[in-house]
Amino acid sequence: MIWNEVDRYLEANRARFEEELKALIRIPSVSAQPDHDADTRKAAEAVRDNLIASGLKAELIETARHPLVYAEWLGMPGKPTILVYGHYDVQPPEPLEPWLSPPFEPTIRNGNLYARGATDDKGQMFTHLKAAEAWMKVAAGFPVNVKFLIEGEEEVGGHSLEKFVAESAAKLACDYAVISDTSQFAPGIPAVTYGLKGLAYFELAVTGADRDLHSGTYGGAVANPLNALAEILASLKGPDGRIQVAGFYDQVLPLEDWERAEFAKLPFSEADFQADLKVPALFGEADYTTLERKWARPTCDVHGLWGGYSGPGPKTVLPCKAGAKFSFRLVPNQDPATIERLVREHITRVTPPGVRVDLITHHGAPAVLVDVNTPGVQAAARAVEVGFGARPVFMREGGSIPVVGLIKEKLGVDALLLGWGQTDDNLHGPNEKFSLADFHRGIKAAARLLYELAI
Ligand code: BES
Ligand code: ZN
Repeated sequence: MIWNEVDRYLEANRARFEEELKALIRIPSVSAQPDHDADTRKAAEAVRDNLIASGLKAELIETARHPLVYAEWLGMPGKPTILVYGHYDVQPPEPLEPWLSPPFEPTIRNGNLYARGATDDKGQMFTHLKAAEAWMKVAAGFPVNVKFLIEGEEEVGGHSLEKFVAESAAKLACDYAVISDTSQFAPGIPAVTYGLKGLAYFELAVTGADRDLHSGTYGGAVANPLNALAEILASLKGPDGRIQVAGFYDQVLPLEDWERAEFAKLPFSEADFQADLKVPALFGEADYTTLERKWARPTCDVHGLWGGYSGPGPKTVLPCKAGAKFSFRLVPNQDPATIERLVREHITRVTPPGVRVDLITHHGAPAVLVDVNTPGVQAAARAVEVGFGARPVFMREGGSIPVVGLIKEKLGVDALLLGWGQTDDNLHGPNEKFSLADFHRGIKAAARLLYELAI
Protein backbone atom coordinates (compact mmCIF):
# COMPACT_ATOMS: atom_id res chain seq x y z
CA MET A 1 0.00 0.00 0.00
CA ILE A 2 1.24 3.46 -0.92
CA TRP A 3 0.99 4.72 2.68
CA ASN A 4 3.60 2.19 3.80
CA GLU A 5 5.99 3.53 1.20
CA VAL A 6 5.38 7.10 2.34
CA ASP A 7 6.00 6.03 5.92
CA ARG A 8 9.24 4.26 4.94
CA TYR A 9 10.38 7.38 3.10
CA LEU A 10 9.80 9.44 6.25
CA GLU A 11 11.77 6.96 8.37
CA ALA A 12 14.66 6.91 5.93
CA ASN A 13 14.96 10.69 5.77
CA ARG A 14 14.69 11.70 9.41
CA ALA A 15 18.25 12.97 9.75
CA ARG A 16 18.08 15.06 6.59
CA PHE A 17 14.73 16.58 7.63
CA GLU A 18 16.33 17.72 10.88
CA GLU A 19 19.28 19.28 9.06
CA GLU A 20 16.96 21.11 6.68
CA LEU A 21 14.90 22.47 9.56
CA LYS A 22 18.06 23.67 11.29
CA ALA A 23 19.13 25.46 8.10
CA LEU A 24 15.79 27.29 7.95
CA ILE A 25 15.99 28.21 11.63
CA ARG A 26 19.50 29.69 11.20
CA ILE A 27 17.96 32.45 9.05
CA PRO A 28 16.97 35.17 11.55
CA SER A 29 13.65 36.12 9.90
CA VAL A 30 12.51 38.58 12.55
CA SER A 31 9.63 40.28 10.76
CA ALA A 32 9.32 43.12 13.27
CA GLN A 33 12.89 44.36 12.81
CA PRO A 34 13.68 46.19 9.54
CA ASP A 35 17.39 45.32 10.05
CA HIS A 36 16.35 41.73 9.34
CA ASP A 37 14.33 42.40 6.17
CA ALA A 38 16.94 40.70 3.99
CA ASP A 39 16.95 37.66 6.29
CA THR A 40 13.17 37.52 6.27
CA ARG A 41 13.24 37.42 2.47
CA LYS A 42 15.93 34.71 2.62
CA ALA A 43 13.64 32.57 4.76
CA ALA A 44 10.82 33.02 2.24
CA GLU A 45 13.17 31.96 -0.56
CA ALA A 46 14.31 28.95 1.46
CA VAL A 47 10.71 27.82 1.95
CA ARG A 48 9.97 28.33 -1.75
CA ASP A 49 13.11 26.44 -2.80
CA ASN A 50 12.27 23.60 -0.42
CA LEU A 51 8.84 23.22 -2.02
CA ILE A 52 10.40 23.34 -5.50
CA ALA A 53 12.92 20.65 -4.52
CA SER A 54 9.96 18.41 -3.68
CA GLY A 55 8.66 18.82 -7.22
CA LEU A 56 6.04 21.48 -6.53
CA LYS A 57 5.48 24.72 -8.37
CA ALA A 58 6.14 27.42 -5.81
CA GLU A 59 6.50 31.18 -6.03
CA LEU A 60 7.04 34.28 -3.94
CA ILE A 61 4.19 36.74 -3.97
CA GLU A 62 5.42 40.25 -3.28
CA THR A 63 3.56 42.43 -0.79
CA ALA A 64 4.02 45.87 0.74
CA ARG A 65 6.26 44.20 3.32
CA HIS A 66 7.39 40.55 3.56
CA PRO A 67 6.73 38.15 0.67
CA LEU A 68 4.20 35.32 0.80
CA VAL A 69 5.16 31.85 -0.39
CA TYR A 70 2.52 30.10 -2.49
CA ALA A 71 2.46 26.64 -4.05
CA GLU A 72 -0.27 24.38 -5.32
CA TRP A 73 -0.84 20.88 -6.67
CA LEU A 74 -4.31 20.30 -8.09
CA GLY A 75 -3.98 16.87 -9.67
CA MET A 76 -6.97 15.24 -7.96
CA PRO A 77 -10.10 16.84 -9.38
CA GLY A 78 -13.16 15.68 -7.47
CA LYS A 79 -11.18 15.15 -4.27
CA PRO A 80 -11.10 17.74 -1.46
CA THR A 81 -8.67 20.65 -1.55
CA ILE A 82 -6.76 21.70 1.53
CA LEU A 83 -4.94 24.94 2.17
CA VAL A 84 -1.88 24.55 4.39
CA TYR A 85 -1.10 27.79 6.21
CA GLY A 86 2.07 28.51 8.19
CA HIS A 87 4.46 31.36 8.90
CA TYR A 88 8.20 31.63 8.35
CA ASP A 89 8.72 34.81 10.38
CA VAL A 90 9.67 34.74 14.05
CA GLN A 91 9.41 36.93 17.12
CA PRO A 92 12.45 39.01 18.13
CA PRO A 93 14.82 36.87 20.24
CA GLU A 94 15.49 39.61 22.81
CA PRO A 95 16.32 39.51 25.69
CA LEU A 96 19.38 37.46 24.67
CA GLU A 97 20.91 36.98 28.11
CA PRO A 98 18.61 34.13 29.33
CA TRP A 99 19.23 31.98 26.21
CA LEU A 100 21.40 28.95 27.02
CA SER A 101 22.44 28.67 23.36
CA PRO A 102 22.27 31.40 20.69
CA PRO A 103 18.70 31.87 19.40
CA PHE A 104 19.59 31.34 15.76
CA GLU A 105 22.02 28.47 16.32
CA PRO A 106 19.69 25.46 16.67
CA THR A 107 21.00 23.26 19.47
CA ILE A 108 19.74 19.87 20.61
CA ARG A 109 19.40 19.19 24.34
CA ASN A 110 17.37 16.31 25.80
CA GLY A 111 15.78 15.53 22.45
CA ASN A 112 14.56 19.10 22.01
CA LEU A 113 15.68 21.55 19.35
CA TYR A 114 16.28 24.94 20.99
CA ALA A 115 16.05 28.05 18.81
CA ARG A 116 13.81 31.00 17.98
CA GLY A 117 11.13 29.69 15.63
CA ALA A 118 11.70 26.03 16.58
CA THR A 119 8.02 25.55 17.45
CA ASP A 120 6.50 28.93 16.39
CA ASP A 121 6.23 28.27 13.59
CA LYS A 122 9.14 27.05 11.47
CA GLY A 123 9.34 23.58 13.02
CA GLN A 124 5.59 23.01 12.90
CA MET A 125 5.14 24.53 9.44
CA PHE A 126 8.05 22.46 8.11
CA THR A 127 6.27 19.21 9.02
CA HIS A 128 3.79 19.89 6.21
CA LEU A 129 6.59 20.60 3.74
CA LYS A 130 8.28 17.29 4.53
CA ALA A 131 4.98 15.40 4.42
CA ALA A 132 4.44 16.88 0.97
CA GLU A 133 7.96 15.91 -0.08
CA ALA A 134 7.33 12.30 0.91
CA TRP A 135 4.15 12.06 -1.17
CA MET A 136 5.73 13.81 -4.15
CA LYS A 137 8.82 11.57 -4.12
CA VAL A 138 6.92 8.35 -3.50
CA ALA A 139 3.72 8.93 -5.49
CA ALA A 140 4.45 12.00 -7.64
CA GLY A 141 1.31 13.58 -6.19
CA PHE A 142 -1.12 13.67 -3.28
CA PRO A 143 -4.38 11.85 -2.51
CA VAL A 144 -6.07 15.30 -2.31
CA ASN A 145 -5.44 18.72 -3.83
CA VAL A 146 -3.07 20.87 -1.82
CA LYS A 147 -2.32 24.59 -1.67
CA PHE A 148 0.42 26.09 0.49
CA LEU A 149 0.31 29.63 1.81
CA ILE A 150 3.23 30.52 4.07
CA GLU A 151 3.44 34.12 5.29
CA GLY A 152 6.13 36.32 6.80
CA GLU A 153 4.11 38.79 8.86
CA GLU A 154 2.20 36.62 11.34
CA GLU A 155 4.17 37.99 14.27
CA VAL A 156 3.49 41.60 13.22
CA GLY A 157 -0.21 41.45 12.47
CA GLY A 158 -0.40 39.77 9.06
CA HIS A 159 -1.54 42.84 7.13
CA SER A 160 -0.22 41.68 3.75
CA LEU A 161 -1.87 38.30 4.15
CA GLU A 162 -5.19 39.90 5.02
CA LYS A 163 -5.12 41.89 1.78
CA PHE A 164 -4.02 38.88 -0.26
CA VAL A 165 -6.70 36.54 1.11
CA ALA A 166 -9.40 39.17 0.56
CA GLU A 167 -8.30 39.67 -3.06
CA SER A 168 -7.59 36.03 -3.90
CA ALA A 169 -10.57 34.09 -2.61
CA ALA A 170 -10.93 32.17 -5.89
CA LYS A 171 -7.24 31.21 -6.01
CA LEU A 172 -7.33 30.05 -2.38
CA ALA A 173 -10.67 28.20 -2.61
CA CYS A 174 -10.50 25.03 -0.51
CA ASP A 175 -12.49 22.66 1.68
CA TYR A 176 -10.34 23.00 4.80
CA ALA A 177 -7.42 25.05 5.97
CA VAL A 178 -4.77 23.12 7.89
CA ILE A 179 -2.65 24.93 10.46
CA SER A 180 0.03 23.62 12.81
CA ASP A 181 0.74 26.56 15.12
CA THR A 182 -0.68 25.37 18.44
CA SER A 183 0.18 22.80 21.14
CA GLN A 184 -0.66 19.28 22.20
CA PHE A 185 -2.48 18.88 25.50
CA ALA A 186 0.61 17.40 27.20
CA PRO A 187 3.51 15.07 26.34
CA GLY A 188 1.97 11.83 25.07
CA ILE A 189 -1.48 13.45 24.74
CA PRO A 190 -1.84 14.89 21.23
CA ALA A 191 -4.77 17.13 20.44
CA VAL A 192 -7.05 18.51 17.82
CA THR A 193 -7.81 22.11 18.75
CA TYR A 194 -11.34 23.27 18.02
CA GLY A 195 -11.34 26.70 19.62
CA LEU A 196 -9.06 29.73 19.78
CA LYS A 197 -9.53 33.02 21.56
CA GLY A 198 -9.81 36.34 19.77
CA LEU A 199 -8.06 39.54 20.71
CA ALA A 200 -8.85 43.22 21.14
CA TYR A 201 -5.63 45.14 21.89
CA PHE A 202 -5.41 48.74 23.05
CA GLU A 203 -2.95 51.41 23.97
CA LEU A 204 -4.06 54.23 26.25
CA ALA A 205 -2.31 57.58 26.63
CA VAL A 206 -3.27 59.84 29.55
CA THR A 207 -2.04 63.43 29.62
CA GLY A 208 -2.33 66.24 32.13
CA ALA A 209 -0.32 69.48 32.40
CA ASP A 210 2.07 70.57 29.65
CA ARG A 211 5.11 69.71 31.83
CA ASP A 212 6.13 67.57 34.77
CA LEU A 213 5.32 69.27 38.10
CA HIS A 214 6.56 69.21 41.71
CA SER A 215 4.16 66.98 43.60
CA GLY A 216 4.38 69.16 46.72
CA THR A 217 3.76 72.45 44.94
CA TYR A 218 1.04 71.18 42.60
CA GLY A 219 -0.11 67.88 44.10
CA GLY A 220 -3.72 67.85 45.19
CA ALA A 221 -4.57 70.75 42.90
CA VAL A 222 -3.86 69.14 39.52
CA ALA A 223 -4.87 65.66 38.36
CA ASN A 224 -2.03 63.16 38.12
CA PRO A 225 -2.17 61.18 34.81
CA LEU A 226 -0.54 58.15 36.47
CA ASN A 227 -3.16 58.08 39.22
CA ALA A 228 -5.87 58.50 36.60
CA LEU A 229 -4.41 55.68 34.52
CA ALA A 230 -4.33 53.40 37.57
CA GLU A 231 -8.00 54.20 38.27
CA ILE A 232 -9.01 53.49 34.68
CA LEU A 233 -7.11 50.19 34.54
CA ALA A 234 -8.41 49.10 37.95
CA SER A 235 -11.98 49.69 36.77
CA LEU A 236 -11.69 47.12 33.99
CA LYS A 237 -11.88 44.05 36.23
CA GLY A 238 -13.57 43.30 39.53
CA PRO A 239 -12.19 41.30 42.48
CA ASP A 240 -14.28 38.33 41.24
CA GLY A 241 -12.27 38.29 38.00
CA ARG A 242 -15.23 39.56 35.97
CA ILE A 243 -14.67 42.26 33.37
CA GLN A 244 -16.68 45.36 34.30
CA VAL A 245 -17.05 46.95 30.88
CA ALA A 246 -20.84 47.34 30.41
CA GLY A 247 -22.15 44.92 27.78
CA PHE A 248 -18.86 43.02 27.58
CA TYR A 249 -20.43 39.59 28.16
CA ASP A 250 -23.54 40.15 26.03
CA GLN A 251 -22.23 38.18 23.04
CA VAL A 252 -20.33 35.52 24.99
CA LEU A 253 -21.30 32.01 23.99
CA PRO A 254 -21.54 30.03 27.23
CA LEU A 255 -19.52 26.84 27.56
CA GLU A 256 -21.63 23.86 26.62
CA ASP A 257 -22.25 21.10 29.15
CA TRP A 258 -20.45 18.50 27.02
CA GLU A 259 -17.36 20.74 26.87
CA ARG A 260 -17.27 21.27 30.62
CA ALA A 261 -17.60 17.49 31.06
CA GLU A 262 -14.81 16.80 28.52
CA PHE A 263 -12.48 19.42 30.02
CA ALA A 264 -13.05 17.92 33.48
CA LYS A 265 -12.01 14.48 32.20
CA LEU A 266 -8.63 15.70 30.95
CA PRO A 267 -5.65 14.83 33.14
CA PHE A 268 -5.03 18.34 34.42
CA SER A 269 -3.95 19.09 37.97
CA GLU A 270 -4.60 22.62 39.22
CA ALA A 271 -2.12 21.95 42.06
CA ASP A 272 0.67 20.96 39.64
CA PHE A 273 -0.14 23.95 37.46
CA GLN A 274 0.18 26.25 40.47
CA ALA A 275 3.35 24.56 41.72
CA ASP A 276 5.02 24.84 38.32
CA LEU A 277 4.35 28.59 38.18
CA LYS A 278 5.30 29.14 41.84
CA VAL A 279 2.34 31.48 42.37
CA PRO A 280 0.79 31.77 45.86
CA ALA A 281 -2.67 31.00 44.44
CA LEU A 282 -4.44 30.60 41.13
CA PHE A 283 -6.77 33.45 40.23
CA GLY A 284 -9.52 33.92 37.69
CA GLU A 285 -13.19 34.37 37.07
CA ALA A 286 -15.31 32.88 39.86
CA ASP A 287 -17.19 29.64 39.16
CA TYR A 288 -14.88 28.40 36.39
CA THR A 289 -12.05 25.87 36.44
CA THR A 290 -8.55 26.76 35.31
CA LEU A 291 -8.97 25.04 31.94
CA GLU A 292 -12.30 26.80 31.39
CA ARG A 293 -10.71 30.15 32.23
CA LYS A 294 -7.69 29.48 30.00
CA TRP A 295 -9.62 28.21 26.99
CA ALA A 296 -13.15 29.51 26.96
CA ARG A 297 -13.67 32.61 29.10
CA PRO A 298 -12.69 36.15 28.11
CA THR A 299 -9.82 37.82 29.96
CA CYS A 300 -8.29 41.26 30.42
CA ASP A 301 -4.57 41.86 30.97
CA VAL A 302 -2.26 44.85 31.18
CA HIS A 303 0.95 44.26 29.20
CA GLY A 304 2.95 47.41 29.84
CA LEU A 305 2.71 50.55 31.88
CA TRP A 306 4.82 53.70 31.81
CA GLY A 307 5.00 57.21 33.17
CA GLY A 308 6.81 59.22 35.84
CA TYR A 309 10.00 58.11 37.48
CA SER A 310 11.10 54.54 38.03
CA GLY A 311 14.88 55.00 38.41
CA PRO A 312 16.75 54.46 41.69
CA GLY A 313 15.71 56.46 44.75
CA PRO A 314 12.71 58.75 45.16
CA LYS A 315 11.68 61.61 42.88
CA THR A 316 8.62 63.61 43.87
CA VAL A 317 7.31 64.24 40.39
CA LEU A 318 3.75 64.74 39.26
CA PRO A 319 4.17 63.35 35.74
CA CYS A 320 2.45 65.08 32.83
CA LYS A 321 1.76 61.86 30.94
CA ALA A 322 1.29 58.14 31.43
CA GLY A 323 0.39 55.21 29.24
CA ALA A 324 -0.45 51.52 29.14
CA LYS A 325 -0.93 48.62 26.76
CA PHE A 326 -3.71 46.20 27.59
CA SER A 327 -5.86 43.67 25.82
CA PHE A 328 -8.90 41.48 26.07
CA ARG A 329 -8.82 37.88 24.92
CA LEU A 330 -12.21 37.25 23.37
CA VAL A 331 -14.34 34.13 23.03
CA PRO A 332 -17.04 33.21 20.53
CA ASN A 333 -19.20 35.21 19.54
CA GLN A 334 -17.62 38.45 20.75
CA ASP A 335 -16.92 40.90 17.96
CA PRO A 336 -13.64 42.87 18.28
CA ALA A 337 -15.25 46.02 16.79
CA THR A 338 -18.14 45.89 19.27
CA ILE A 339 -15.71 45.34 22.13
CA GLU A 340 -13.71 48.37 20.98
CA ARG A 341 -16.86 50.52 21.11
CA LEU A 342 -17.76 49.26 24.59
CA VAL A 343 -14.22 49.82 25.88
CA ARG A 344 -14.22 53.38 24.50
CA GLU A 345 -17.56 54.10 26.20
CA HIS A 346 -16.27 52.61 29.44
CA ILE A 347 -13.10 54.68 29.42
CA THR A 348 -15.00 57.87 28.67
CA ARG A 349 -17.24 57.11 31.64
CA VAL A 350 -14.55 56.27 34.19
CA THR A 351 -11.86 58.80 33.28
CA PRO A 352 -11.51 61.20 36.22
CA PRO A 353 -11.69 64.95 35.55
CA GLY A 354 -8.51 66.91 34.81
CA VAL A 355 -6.83 64.57 32.30
CA ARG A 356 -7.19 63.81 28.58
CA VAL A 357 -7.22 60.26 27.26
CA ASP A 358 -6.38 58.93 23.84
CA LEU A 359 -7.14 55.28 23.07
CA ILE A 360 -5.41 53.59 20.14
CA THR A 361 -6.73 50.24 18.89
CA HIS A 362 -4.21 47.71 17.62
CA HIS A 363 -5.16 44.92 15.26
CA GLY A 364 -7.91 42.65 16.64
CA ALA A 365 -9.00 39.12 15.84
CA PRO A 366 -12.23 37.21 16.33
CA ALA A 367 -12.32 34.00 18.36
CA VAL A 368 -12.99 30.76 16.51
CA LEU A 369 -14.88 27.62 17.24
CA VAL A 370 -14.72 24.67 14.83
CA ASP A 371 -17.51 22.10 14.64
CA VAL A 372 -15.87 18.83 15.72
CA ASN A 373 -18.49 16.68 13.99
CA THR A 374 -17.25 17.20 10.44
CA PRO A 375 -15.50 14.68 8.19
CA GLY A 376 -12.41 16.93 8.17
CA VAL A 377 -12.03 17.00 11.93
CA GLN A 378 -12.64 13.27 12.16
CA ALA A 379 -10.01 12.64 9.43
CA ALA A 380 -7.61 14.91 11.31
CA ALA A 381 -8.16 12.94 14.52
CA ARG A 382 -7.38 9.67 12.71
CA ALA A 383 -4.24 11.16 11.16
CA VAL A 384 -3.00 12.44 14.52
CA GLU A 385 -3.55 9.00 16.03
CA VAL A 386 -1.42 7.42 13.28
CA GLY A 387 1.34 10.02 13.64
CA PHE A 388 1.47 10.12 17.44
CA GLY A 389 0.38 6.60 18.36
CA ALA A 390 -2.29 7.94 20.71
CA ARG A 391 -5.86 9.16 20.28
CA PRO A 392 -5.99 12.95 20.32
CA VAL A 393 -8.11 14.86 22.80
CA PHE A 394 -10.26 17.76 21.64
CA MET A 395 -9.18 20.98 23.27
CA ARG A 396 -9.38 24.74 22.99
CA GLU A 397 -6.51 27.23 23.33
CA GLY A 398 -6.17 30.66 24.87
CA GLY A 399 -3.95 31.97 22.06
CA SER A 400 -5.10 33.65 18.88
CA ILE A 401 -4.39 32.95 15.22
CA PRO A 402 -6.01 35.82 13.31
CA VAL A 403 -5.77 34.04 9.96
CA VAL A 404 -8.28 31.42 11.10
CA GLY A 405 -11.03 34.03 11.36
CA LEU A 406 -9.90 35.59 8.10
CA ILE A 407 -10.09 32.26 6.27
CA LYS A 408 -13.53 31.58 7.71
CA GLU A 409 -14.76 35.01 6.63
CA LYS A 410 -13.22 35.21 3.16
CA LEU A 411 -13.08 31.54 2.09
CA GLY A 412 -15.96 30.22 4.16
CA VAL A 413 -14.02 27.24 5.53
CA ASP A 414 -12.95 25.96 8.93
CA ALA A 415 -9.37 25.31 9.95
CA LEU A 416 -8.04 21.99 11.17
CA LEU A 417 -5.80 23.10 14.03
CA LEU A 418 -3.22 20.38 14.47
CA GLY A 419 -0.60 21.57 16.92
CA TRP A 420 2.57 19.57 17.49
CA GLY A 421 4.04 21.83 20.20
CA GLN A 422 4.01 21.53 23.99
CA THR A 423 2.62 24.19 26.33
CA ASP A 424 6.09 24.76 27.83
CA ASP A 425 7.83 25.38 24.48
CA ASN A 426 8.58 29.01 25.46
CA LEU A 427 7.22 30.46 22.26
CA HIS A 428 7.96 34.19 22.09
CA GLY A 429 10.37 33.81 25.06
CA PRO A 430 13.99 32.79 25.58
CA ASN A 431 14.95 29.14 25.05
CA GLU A 432 12.11 28.36 22.66
CA LYS A 433 12.12 24.64 21.89
CA PHE A 434 10.45 21.91 19.86
CA SER A 435 10.66 18.20 20.56
CA LEU A 436 12.36 16.39 17.66
CA ALA A 437 10.24 13.32 18.36
CA ASP A 438 7.15 15.50 17.97
CA PHE A 439 8.64 16.99 14.80
CA HIS A 440 8.80 13.53 13.21
CA ARG A 441 5.41 12.47 14.60
CA GLY A 442 3.99 15.71 13.21
CA ILE A 443 5.42 14.96 9.76
CA LYS A 444 3.85 11.53 9.87
CA ALA A 445 0.47 12.89 10.98
CA ALA A 446 0.62 15.61 8.31
CA ALA A 447 1.39 13.03 5.63
CA ARG A 448 -1.36 10.73 6.88
CA LEU A 449 -3.84 13.63 6.91
CA LEU A 450 -3.62 13.92 3.11
CA TYR A 451 -4.55 10.25 2.91
CA GLU A 452 -7.39 10.39 5.47
CA LEU A 453 -8.97 13.46 3.86
CA ALA A 454 -9.23 11.62 0.54
CA ILE A 455 -11.39 8.81 1.94
N1 BES B 1 1.17 30.35 17.64
C1 BES B 1 0.67 31.50 18.31
C2 BES B 1 -0.77 31.33 18.73
C3 BES B 1 -0.96 30.42 19.91
C4 BES B 1 -0.34 30.67 21.11
C5 BES B 1 -1.79 29.35 19.79
C6 BES B 1 -0.53 29.83 22.17
C7 BES B 1 -2.00 28.50 20.85
C8 BES B 1 -1.35 28.74 22.05
C9 BES B 1 0.73 32.71 17.40
O1 BES B 1 1.92 32.77 16.69
C10 BES B 1 0.66 33.95 18.25
O2 BES B 1 1.55 34.22 18.98
N2 BES B 1 -0.45 34.70 18.15
C11 BES B 1 -0.66 35.95 18.83
C12 BES B 1 -1.67 36.69 18.00
C13 BES B 1 -1.65 38.16 18.13
C14 BES B 1 -0.31 38.80 17.84
C15 BES B 1 -2.73 38.76 17.22
C16 BES B 1 -1.18 35.76 20.23
O3 BES B 1 -1.94 34.82 20.52
O4 BES B 1 -0.82 36.58 21.10
ZN1 ZN C 1 3.68 33.48 17.56
